[in-house]
Amino acid sequence: MLFSRSSVIAAGLLGTVGALAMGCSSPEKNQRVGDTCTPGASQTTILSRLAFARENPKGVTAGFDIDGLVSDANQPDESKLLTCKQGDYLDAEGRPGIDNQLAKLLPLLDGITAADVNLIIKGAIENGQLLSTITLDGIDNLKDDPCVEVRFRSGLGTPTMGTDGELDPNQTFELDPTGDETHAVGAIKNGVFEVGPFNLTLLVYVFAEKFKFHLKGARVRLVLDENEHGRVTGVIGGGVTLEELNGIIQEFDLGSAEKDGALGFLRLLGDLDGDGQGTCKSFSIGVTLSGRRAYLAPFTGAPVATTDGGTDAGPAPVDAGPASPDELDWIDKVLPIARETCLQCHAVTAPGRLNLSTYGAWVANRALIKQRVVVLQNMPPATVPLNETRRARLAAWLGN
Ligand code: HEC
Repeated sequence: MLFSRSSVIAAGLLGTVGALAMGCSSPEKNQRVGDTCTPGASQTTILSRLAFARENPKGVTAGFDIDGLVSDANQPDESKLLTCKQGDYLDAEGRPGIDNQLAKLLPLLDGITAADVNLIIKGAIENGQLLSTITLDGIDNLKDDPCVEVRFRSGLGTPTMGTDGELDPNQTFELDPTGDETHAVGAIKNGVFEVGPFNLTLLVYVFAEKFKFHLKGARVRLVLDENEHGRVTGVIGGGVTLEELNGIIQEFDLGSAEKDGALGFLRLLGDLDGDGQGTCKSFSIGVTLSGRRAYLAPFTGAPVATTDGGTDAGPAPVDAGPASPDELDWIDKVLPIARETCLQCHAVTAPGRLNLSTYGAWVANRALIKQRVVVLQNMPPATVPLNETRRARLAAWLGN
């Protein structure tokens, strides 16, 4: 129980993003003005694959040298204490000092949980729960450009998948109005975009629960490919504080012994923010990604279903203008729960069933939904669990 929840916490450790700008050289050709670059081309990538990097082969993983220390057995004790005696990895290109404690945790989780953490992430991407986008702006040259702006944002929509198991290229998503927009400045060298260190605020999904937390000293590297649908592959690395993870663990209905156990377990893995006495306040993660070119459109209301010909029992969207506070609340609180516990039976792909995949449908059927979910409590059916916290969250939106 404890560990299956830990794995989901880990699985949710991905998303989009807020950031602080970092430096960028300003040669005459491509001036940096404040934290913007001179205008240039723009390209958006939707992340169609995200995976926590494993150790493969032995001693090798993906990530960054977050702390600037190369920890190995030959180090003096003092420096070993700074990294809490956690050994570093090489990356596939042979760079030393790669910090990715999560690679050590993953095999343990595999042994304890039935589900592969990375498959949980894949599912969240495919059902539209985890639509992370990265936009590069001010590009003059995809091979070499000393000043390129980057924005990390969340999309809304129902993605379509290609036969290669990744999202189809060139899809359009709406900007998630409840997400963060984050901006930083990096550079392209030899077709590789790099940015960091900066603070990356991640949108975290732990099942239907949405959290935000912060990757400190984050770095992002993207290998840009001009040919194949703007395909991008890359790596994200950074440090997560144990304090933030503790905050997430506290949100769960776990006994205090279980909570302490989970935190103690994570504390053993700390390797960053060492106090020199052998206590580390953060631990490092490394994530691999690949993405496809996509487009972001302004938010026009919350139609999250595709129009693939299913019966749409709901009425036309209530409004197509800027989102009302009620709609933002619905996107934030109701939609993640609906995706997890309603839409497998109540979406356009389930013809003849009440379609509950849009905000408009929830507004039009508010009384009926309240009757079934809050009063009778016979929706969702008993086979699809809905805990009290979530039922209360739906009840709060459904109102009186
Ligand atoms: C496993 C499939 C399944 C899931 C999951 C599910 N439902 Fe249902 N739902 C049904 C079926 C089947 C019916 C029609 C039979 C009935 O009324 O009980 C139904 C009926 C309803 C109705 C009444 C529709 C009408 O026209 O009278 C509402 C409202 C409803 N569901 C809301 C929800 C909500 C909200 C959720 C998620 C919190 C949910 N359901 C999850 C299968 C499901």
